[in-house]
Amino acid sequence: MTTYAVTAASGHLGHLAVEALLERGVAAGDVVAVVRTPEKVADLAAKGVVVRAGDYSDRAALDAALTGVDRLLLVSGSEPGRRIAQHTTVIEAAKAAGVSRIAYTSILRADTSGSPLAPDHKGTEEVLATSGVPFSVLRNSWYLENYTGQLGQYLATGTLLGSTHGGRVSAASRADYAAAAVAVLLADAPEQVYELAGDSFDFTELAATITEVTGTTVTSQDVSTEEHVKALQGFGLDEGTAGFVAALDASIAAGDLETDRDDLAQLIGRATTTLAQAVKAARA
Ligand SMILES: NC(=O)c1ccc[n+]([C@@H]2O[C@H](COP(=O)([O-])OP(=O)(O)OC[C@H]3O[C@@H](n4cnc5c(N)ncnc54)[C@H](OP(=O)(O)O)[C@@H]3O)[C@@H](O)[C@H]2O)c1
Repeated sequence: MTTYAVTAASGHLGHLAVEALLERGVAAGDVVAVVRTPEKVADLAAKGVVVRAGDYSDRAALDAALTGVDRLLLVSGSEPGRRIAQHTTVIEAAKAAGVSRIAYTSILRADTSGSPLAPDHKGTEEVLATSGVPFSVLRNSWYLENYTGQLGQYLATGTLLGSTHGGRVSAASRADYAAAAVAVLLADAPEQVYELAGDSFDFTELAATITEVTGTTVTSQDVSTEEHVKALQGFGLDEGTAGFVAALDASIAAGDLETDRDDLAQLIGRATTTLAQAVKAARA
């Protein structure tokens, strides 16, 4: 019997990964959902999933949460800048608990990417490499949901504002990435590095697809980084957050989130979710 644990199971990706493990036939009692707030995953507990508390900064809780776990999916945390320390705590706890393999959700080409998000992932990959615990890094590109989650706003304004300057994004759905993570967890001899992504599009194509699927005209408006920051502040974002969002677009402009690798489709054994499918699903 193999016991699987998924961290951040209260988040979108972690929750989907737990569901994917169950769909792949793993018994609920062999799945441990590690969360900060157990009440958030009452639905998983009701299915028989073992729910344990484990904040990434609480070593003692993680030691208890990972007891008896064989394979761990470490979903990256959501506090940029603090994540290397947090992930290190999880990795050290996993090692102490005798976890035999860790799969970690990283970012596309973490070792060379200029994305402001990449340093945390690169640093975590380095910790994994020296940990002595066998591991796989799931270098996830962008989620389609980063855009479909803002569909209402695009439709209301008719505008898709950005500063990507024609840069392309190879994106896939969270469910695709979760299915891939589970495929890697279940595999007996996984690779060490996966570059995971779906089909690519630029913002003009993104706007055109939204227009086509919804019947409401949305046009992309490409502005300079400075103009983008100002516009975001006008929408109520503080200066730091606005700068961060614009830096993500600059990273797209530089090609950091574009790839033609098909590791994701290979892992999940089907084509990745298309942009049009994701927009349709979000519209519904
Ligand atoms: N590839 C992309 O496009 C993309 C986009 C956004 C994020 N990400 C990364 O992918 C991860 C998963 O994405 P998602 O959509 O599932 O994000 P999400 O829905 O925001 O979930 C984040 C999860 O991280 C947990 N978490 C944060 N800090 C933690 C800590 N200190 N200790 C324990 N758990 C902690 C949260 O727990 P609570 O429920 O207790 O808050 C939540 O379960 C994100 O955390 C981020 O690193 C990737």
